[in-house]
Amino acid sequence: MYRIASIGGDGIGPEIIEAGKVVLDAAGERYGFDIAWEDFAIGADRYLATGELITEDDLADLSRFRAIYFGAIGDDRVKPGVLEKGILLALRFHFDQYVNLRPIKLLEGVATPLANKTPSDIDFVVVRENTEDFYVGIGSRFAGESEKATLEVVRDIYQVKFGMDVTTDAEEIAYQIGVITREGAERVMRYAFDLAERREKKLASVDKANVLSDVYGLWRDVFTGVAKDYPDVSTEFNFVDAVTMWFVKNPEWYDVVVTPNMFGDIITDLGAMIQGGLGLAPGGNINPQGTSMFEPIHGSAPKYKGLNVANPMATIWAGSMMLDHLGEHEAAAAVLRGIEQSITGRFVTRDMGGKATTSEVGEHIASLVLQH
Ligand code: IPM
Ligand code: MN
Repeated sequence: MYRIASIGGDGIGPEIIEAGKVVLDAAGERYGFDIAWEDFAIGADRYLATGELITEDDLADLSRFRAIYFGAIGDDRVKPGVLEKGILLALRFHFDQYVNLRPIKLLEGVATPLANKTPSDIDFVVVRENTEDFYVGIGSRFAGESEKATLEVVRDIYQVKFGMDVTTDAEEIAYQIGVITREGAERVMRYAFDLAERREKKLASVDKANVLSDVYGLWRDVFTGVAKDYPDVSTEFNFVDAVTMWFVKNPEWYDVVVTPNMFGDIITDLGAMIQGGLGLAPGGNINPQGTSMFEPIHGSAPKYKGLNVANPMATIWAGSMMLDHLGEHEAAAAVLRGIEQSITGRFVTRDMGGKATTSEVGEHIASLVLQH
């Protein structure tokens, strides 16, 4: 029996999570396990009613689960960033989910915008660092006292380096910093190397050490050190700007990619597009020892809320990743195969050129999983 927390969230979130649960319950039935779901009403509605984003009680309750199944967050009635930072990023950071695992895999039957590329060409995994870099939230605009003091230091350095006179008025100058720590880089790199060992033994580090040589210089040093423990994995360094070209031109070069947080955010949207769009892009926020969280990469699409038209496949795929994480490898593979069969059978939602509803796709994939 697996106890799994679910957070539908905002917009289409609750509908796609519902479709995902139907599939995962079917996988349990077929492969001999039960899932006890516990729902958490976290999101815009509660925030608007009570002012709460994530409460201490939520965190204490959620910490009892190994996995959270997460829909989407974001609502027109709330200023952009409030829910994303206050809920999604808060959960990633609180549970120290330092690996953001994002498969870039073209499924059979899916159209990619890349001419002449097939499923055998597009099949790699991005391991995005998920707790550091420019996401640490250290900066001048919403600052505490020490960050305000740092703004004066930044201003002074700026004046010395560029001979420019600037005030420390928050409307005139801002800074925000990225932080890389040896410990933070090393743990995510070890995860990526371990993954590469189980795959094609090829790992690329994606960074920008030519320009941001402080943070990503340390990143590269750590990578070089960790690589010594994995002599059978071949490695390379790529610059992030170049990678946006190579993912388009030669995606077949890649097997596992490890990258700092912000570049990981950017290149996985690119990756989503080459595998058929955000409707087919799942992600796992993983703390191997703690509470992990699985979600579609796309947002809450408020204008489709309640219409039962959203594509649930990214969420169902995220559910497959969750099963894999829990050790149900066969069931995980069956769910992914079910998604693929649903696509090749043209049983898809409108965004993929079909007529099926969100819940119908869920039920259809569930029935396919039961037949495996
Ligand atoms: C993602 C999203 C988030 C991120 C936002 C919503 C905070 O873009 O999961 O990729 O930047 O990580
Ligand atoms: Mn993103």
